[in-house]
Amino acid sequence: MNWNARWIWHILFWGALAPLVVLIAQLLSRDLGPDPGKTLTEELGRWGLIFLLLTLTLSPLKRFLNIPLLRYRRMIGLYAFFYACLHVTAYLLFLADFQALWEDLLKRPYIMVGAAAFLILLALAVTSPRSMVRRLGKRWRTLHKGVYAAGILVVVHFLWQARADLGEPIAYGAVLAVLLLSRVKRRTVLPASSSSRNA
Ligand code: HEM
Repeated sequence: MNWNARWIWHILFWGALAPLVVLIAQLLSRDLGPDPGKTLTEELGRWGLIFLLLTLTLSPLKRFLNIPLLRYRRMIGLYAFFYACLHVTAYLLFLADFQALWEDLLKRPYIMVGAAAFLILLALAVTSPRSMVRRLGKRWRTLHKGVYAAGILVVVHFLWQARADLGEPIAYGAVLAVLLLSRVKRRTVLPASSSSRNA
């Protein structure tokens, strides 16, 4: 990585922590509304989704701007997983009813959808080191296509729990649809092997 790329890496790495710092500051200053646990869970989940969408944006953006952005994809993807972990932790700490966890899951099936997305993100995070890329070979690419399924599941999870206010999850869903369609369209024009993984 050259000097410029290293700078960009540091800006992205530290910048991606900003939402967490802001949320912690709001929590400490009691600025998260009447139900801070719920707001915190929602905000962390939303950031998980935003980083997931950003991960999918890098490839089309790289083609559009013609600058090497894919070298940052692993870090941004790991941030999606990081915020998802914090979201699940906040749910367990503030919202889950451990006495009736099973009933809670049956009452709110969108949680199962979120859990499925979380398991996919976990598998992607565990296999993200370069040693795993080498070890898994072609299977790594196939496995990491799971990021699309994770994106769809998270949008469904968001839509399902939203009940009345569907505007925001629909907007995220529309962004995801555009990103997925751009890939399908490209695949029909160019063979999959023509795109390099880390450029
Ligand atoms: C075991 C896994 C998961 C559990 C138990 C879970 C739980 C929840 C719960 C309980 C809510 C509703 C919070 C409320 O009452 O308003 C929620 C909302 C949400 N979750 Fe998850 N979730 C999981 C996985 C994920 C993942 C992997 C992501 C994203 C990467 C995610 C993103 C979201 C988003 C965007 C919302 C909506 C936030 C809002 O209303 O603004 N969740 N989740």
